[in-house]
Amino acid sequence: MLNYSCGDVMEFKIKDINLAKDGWTQIEWAERHMPVLMRIRREFERDKPLEGVKVAAVLHVTKETAALVRTLKAGGAEVWLAGSNPLSTQDEVAAALVEDGIRVFAWRGQTPEEYYWCIEKVALSYPHVVMDDGADLHAYLHSKGVDVGRKVAGGTEETTTGVVRLRSLERDGKLLYPVIAVNDALTKYLFDNRYGTGQSTIDGILRATNILLAGKVVVVAGYGWVGRGIAMRAHGMGARVIITEVNPVRALEAVMDGYEVMPMTEAAKIGDVFITATGNKDVVRTEHFRLMKDGAILANAGHFNVEISVSELEKIAVSKRVVRKYVTEYTLDNGKKLYLLAEGRLVNLVAAEGHPSEVMDMSFANQAYSVKYILKNKDKLVARVYKEPGDIDERVAGQKL
Ligand SMILES: NC(=O)c1ccc[n+]([C@@H]2O[C@H](COP(=O)([O-])OP(=O)(O)OC[C@H]3O[C@@H](n4cnc5c(N)ncnc54)[C@H](O)[C@@H]3O)[C@@H](O)[C@H]2O)c1
Repeated sequence: MLNYSCGDVMEFKIKDINLAKDGWTQIEWAERHMPVLMRIRREFERDKPLEGVKVAAVLHVTKETAALVRTLKAGGAEVWLAGSNPLSTQDEVAAALVEDGIRVFAWRGQTPEEYYWCIEKVALSYPHVVMDDGADLHAYLHSKGVDVGRKVAGGTEETTTGVVRLRSLERDGKLLYPVIAVNDALTKYLFDNRYGTGQSTIDGILRATNILLAGKVVVVAGYGWVGRGIAMRAHGMGARVIITEVNPVRALEAVMDGYEVMPMTEAAKIGDVFITATGNKDVVRTEHFRLMKDGAILANAGHFNVEISVSELEKIAVSKRVVRKYVTEYTLDNGKKLYLLAEGRLVNLVAAEGHPSEVMDMSFANQAYSVKYILKNKDKLVARVYKEPGDIDERVAGQKL
C-alpha cells in the first residue's frame, strides 16, 4: 500500500504507483470510446467552469471514472476520489490518477473499515460539490451535520439505490444540500442501467464461471431497468429466463415481454443461475437456498451486497471454499453445493470491468453537466432532490447520436 502526506493532509492512498503505466493505457482506451465526455472536456478546458472548486467523489474507480474526474480537473476542479465498493477499484487506474494529480483513496480488496476510512478522507476535504454512487458519501456528510458539509453547494447521485436513500432524507426534512438525481436522467437509466448493466452483468458471470448460458434457466429478480437489461441479454444468449418481481405492473410487463414470471419460492427449484437486481435486501434467503438445485450459481447486480443474504448462506453452510477467482462454493447442511459470485457484491464491477465506456460516456456526461449546473445555480437551488434540468438529457442524447 502506498500513501503520501503533505503536511497534515494525506494526499492519496492506493495499492501501487508502479501500476500507473497500465492505468494510462486503460484510460486512453476508455477516453477513445467516450466522445461526448471528451467534447465536454474541451468545453471545460476552454471555459474553466470549475475553477477553484473542490469536488469530492465516491465512484467506482474504473477507467471510465478516470475519464470523468480528468474532465472535472480540466474544468479547474481539485478532485478527491474514493471507490464506491470495496472490491471494484482498478488499481492501475488509481495509480495513473494519482500521477495526474487526483487525490485518490482507493484500492481493490478493502475491509469495510478501510472502505469507510477512504470515504471519510474524501469527505474531510470540505468539498463544494459531492458526487456519489450509492449515497455513502452523502450519508457520511449528513451524519456529521453541517460541520463537515458546510461548504457543499450541492451534489449528484449516480444510482437508483442512492437516489432512494436521498429521497428518504428529503422526506424526513434532513437533506442538507441540493442533489441532482443523475440516475433519473433518461440518458442515464435507459442506457446505463439497461444496456450497460445488462451486458456487464453477463460479462461478469461469464468471466467468473465460463459457463454456457444457452439452455440454462436464468432467474432474474427485479424487472426494473437493470433487471430487464439482464433478462434481455441472457435471453439473447439462449437462456430460458424467469422473472421474479413484487410490483404487479412490472411483472405484467415481463409477461408481455415474453418471460415466465413466478415467485422466488417456485423459481428457486428450477433455476441454474440467479441474478438479483432489485435494490432490496434478502431477496434470496434461506428458504430459497434450501430449495435450489445442486450447483446453482448466485450473482448480484444491485448496488449493495444485501440482495443475496450472504449471512444466512454462511449460517446454513457446513463448509465453504474458493473454487475459482470470485467463485465461492458453499456446501449446505442438505449436501447441496451453491456457488456465490463476487461475495454477493456487484458482479459486473468485481468479476468484470463494469459498464462499457460507451455507456458511461452518457452517464458521466450527465454528471459533468450537472456539476456545472449546480455551481451556476447554487444561489437558486434549495435542499431538495432535483431531477436533472431538461435540456441536459437532450444535449447528451444529441451529442451521442
Ligand atoms: N451493477 C451496476 O452497475 C448497476 C447499475 C445501475 C443500477 N444498479 C443498481 O441495481 C439496482 C436496481 O436498479 P434499477 O434501476 O433497475 O431499479 P428499479 O427501481 O427500476 O427496479 C428494481 C425492481 O426490483 C423490484 N423489486 C424490489 N424488491 C423485490 C423483490 N424482493 N423481489 C423481486 N423484485 C423486487 C421493484 O419492484 C422494481 O421493479 C439498484 O440497487 C441500483 O442502484 C446497479
